[in-house]
This record gives sequence, structure tokens and C-alpha cells, in this order.
Amino acid sequence: MELEVLIPEEKIKDRVKDLSLEISQAFNNDPIVIISILKGAIFFTVDLLRYLNNEVMLDFIRIKSYEGETKKDTKLAFLSDIPLEGRNVLIVDDIFDTGESLKLAYDEVKKRSPKLIKTCVLLDKEIEKKVKLKPDFVGFRIPNFFVVGYGLDINEKYRNLPYIGYFKTRTLK
Ligand code: IMP
Ligand code: MG
Repeated sequence: MELEVLIPEEKIKDRVKDLSLEISQAFNNDPIVIISILKGAIFFTVDLLRYLNNEVMLDFIRIKSYEGETKKDTKLAFLSDIPLEGRNVLIVDDIFDTGESLKLAYDEVKKRSPKLIKTCVLLDKEIEKKVKLKPDFVGFRIPNFFVVGYGLDINEKYRNLPYIGYFKTRTLK
């Protein structure tokens, strides 16, 4: 199976830098608690944080839903010990697919009474969504390919690729 480049490294870097500036402005340079969704969002989160002008705290939620390219029951574990009450929160995920994971994370964060919740995803897949929630910040809109790299995996592999790639012969889940 041949891996094709969908978004090259340089393009990701440029876009992530621009997104950071957009986010800093949207929060008026106020402090933010970043809740990153493990494991896929980790590369994106770290790069995004580097350019934020805000004072940031970092914490994690773990959501697992895929086995290979098949979506299984979604499981969530809140790993955060930072109190979110009254704070600005930015939830960061790798990809907005059906939207269920981000919605799940959003609802969990909301229970903790933050002042403001915004959401950011690196990729938004062009498929029908199962939720009404729309991410506030999106890096790239992509076709309905199963993508890997820059944190995204298939059975835990390919996360370390510096670019976003896809398998040409496989387009649908
Ligand atoms: P959703 O809940 O359907 O929006 O799926 C979002 C989650 O599924 C993401 O956080 C990813 O972990 C995973 N996912 C969805 N599409 C892909 C893909 O193309 N490659 C790798 N992981 C994916
Ligand atoms: Mg994920």
C-alpha cells in the first residue's frame, strides 16, 4: 500500500503558526487552559502552544474510538487535575470526523463550569457530521480519506510522520 502526502510538513507549520495567532487574539491574550485529546492531538498541541502569546496551562483527555480504520465504542478518560471553573478552555483535537469525540470532550469540560470553551482541530473531514457542534478553529478541510501522520495513527503506527499522508487505495472507512 502506497502512502501519499496530503499535507506537507511546511504547510502544516505555516498553518499552525497562523492558527496560534488567531487563537491568541480570540482569547484577547488572556490565560487559557488547553485540553488536548490524546493521543492523536499531541503533536499538533505542542506545536500550537509554542506560538501562543497567552499564559497557558496544559492538560489531557484520553478518547479512544478506532481499531484500525473501524470506529468502535468511544471511551473517555478525563486526565485533568487543573480546576476549570471560571477559566478559558481550549479543547484541541487532531481531526473532526463524525464530531462525536469533540462533542463528548466538550460536554465533559462543560460539566466543570469554565468561563468559556472554544474548540480547535487540525483537520476537518468532509463527511456528514453526527453532532451540531462546530469547531471554532480549523487548520485544514480534507476529503474523506483515512489519514495518518503528525499524531494520527492507524493501529498506533505512523504517528511520527512529520506530514499528513493517506493511503491511495483506501478512501472510505
Ligand atoms: P469522530 O469522533 O468521528 O469525530 O472521530 C474523531 C477521532 O477519530 C479523532 O480524534 C481521531 O482520533 C480518530 N480519527 C478519525 N478519522 C481519522 C483518520 O482519518 N485517521 C486517524 N484517526 C482518525
Ligand atoms: Mg483522537
